[in-house]
Amino acid sequence: MPITVNGSAVPLPEDARVSLLDLLRDRLGLSGTKKGCDQGACGACTVLVDGQRVLSCLALAVQYEGRSVTTIEGLATNGALHPLQQAFIEHDGFQCGYCTPGQICSAVGMIEEIRRGVPSQVTANVCEETIALSREELRERMSGNLCRCGAYNGIVAAIAETYAEAAE
Ligand code: FES
Ligand code: FES
Repeated sequence: MPITVNGSAVPLPEDARVSLLDLLRDRLGLSGTKKGCDQGACGACTVLVDGQRVLSCLALAVQYEGRSVTTIEGLATNGALHPLQQAFIEHDGFQCGYCTPGQICSAVGMIEEIRRGVPSQVTANVCEETIALSREELRERMSGNLCRCGAYNGIVAAIAETYAEAAE
């Protein structure tokens, strides 16, 4: 069974050692997903698999047979940027842009975790069904995505504005 990437079926690599990141970048030419550390420490390679954020450098492509992968290239619809992409532009949420695809994919997955009531390290009451996206929650939940340029203020502002309804 193939893997689906941004809506298109893609055959799995014959070599079972190929990472999901290398499949995306080297074999499919989807260079939006970045290779930073290649060891799970920076978040630059974050993509969405069935809506959940995944570090593609730590994942083997063959693990995702039959699953649906969305990369930064797949977030825009009908030529219109995803609202979070637009907010990153408006809030100067990047400088060199290397971490940006991972930041955006991670935030899209993160907000679904909040909506599902998945607690984080800083959630005061883990029994709460509804968790508000406070600045503390936002920073903690995005802490796996590093920005070497230090564009964190803009990143946090873009995410907070886009998902303002989750802060209530
Ligand atoms: S490249 Fe995957 S976490 Fe850094
Ligand atoms: S914008 Fe340069 S690493 Fe984040």
